[in-house]
Amino acid sequence: MKRILTGITPSGYPHLGNYIGAIKPSLDLLDEKCESFLFIADLHAVIKVSDPEKLKELSNGIAMAWLASGLDPEKTNFYRQSDIPEITELAWLLSCITEKGLLNRAHAYKAAVDTNNESGKKDSDEGISMGLFSYPLLMASDILTPNATHVPVGKDQQQHLEITRDIAEKFNRKYGDFFNIPEAVIKDEKTVLGTDGRKMSKSYNNIIPLLAEEKELKKSIMKIVTNSQEPGEKKDWRDNTLFSIYSSFTSKDQQEEMQNMFDDGIGWGDAKQKTFEELNKILTPIREKYLELNSNKKHIEEILKSGAEKVREQTLPLVKEAKRLVGISKL
Ligand code: TRP
Repeated sequence: MKRILTGITPSGYPHLGNYIGAIKPSLDLLDEKCESFLFIADLHAVIKVSDPEKLKELSNGIAMAWLASGLDPEKTNFYRQSDIPEITELAWLLSCITEKGLLNRAHAYKAAVDTNNESGKKDSDEGISMGLFSYPLLMASDILTPNATHVPVGKDQQQHLEITRDIAEKFNRKYGDFFNIPEAVIKDEKTVLGTDGRKMSKSYNNIIPLLAEEKELKKSIMKIVTNSQEPGEKKDWRDNTLFSIYSSFTSKDQQEEMQNMFDDGIGWGDAKQKTFEELNKILTPIREKYLELNSNKKHIEEILKSGAEKVREQTLPLVKEAKRLVGISKL
């Protein structure tokens, strides 16, 4: 049976890019014939979020975004990474068979080193935590602890899956066939653009929020950068940020309709208004569910707690067996 697993790092408030790129695909993939593991990667977030209150709030935000978007905790294993101590336990065992060189080549670490070198720092590792360096190892453990077979991720995570496969194969060669070799399920989705035309990301301050009130949603859409063309002038929808954002959540028919409107010279204000209305149709039920969840945070804690209990029924024996294979068991 397929065992699908994916995680979201709570390093920012949930936005449209998270919904289109991670939340919706993770839910669309689930069916009766697979087991699924969806989790909040809060241990990963400690690398980036230094304010404890903020981390708590952001973890909660991702939990609510997932639930409000239709995740059914009865049908999937939904949990917080930090509630499964077997993940960090296995991560250590994996670190003992992983060559440091494998992690030297990981993108996030390399990018941090490049930044240091470019800014002329004497030590190219300055300011880089062991958490950032060994991030791919923890991710490998996230995947291997429940022995997942399929991992839906964005293209930027493909290298981490290759590292995970390397580590799993190495463990299997050394200690016997134990881990599934997980496959990445890469969606060939287009990158969701932010209001300034770059990739939507909290670090660019260009997001369209997922759970905000209508007024705030509208404000963020009105911020989408356009040009000085007047209403009545034909507009090019190719390479247009507004059209690209509109396309990220609408059907082919709706996109054709908008293309015709661009050809016919729709004003930017009207095009934004239409974008707002269509997006608001999708987000209204999610927002309503979110407000309901937000008024009962205790309920979310209970969902996550019982999710973790269910998952640990599987991860405890698995990690116990991994330890036995390595030579760590009761005398
Ligand atoms: N690193 C992923 C991201 O930033 C989140 C993540 C953590 C993850 N652990 C995972 C995704 C395990 C898939 C499987 O998007």
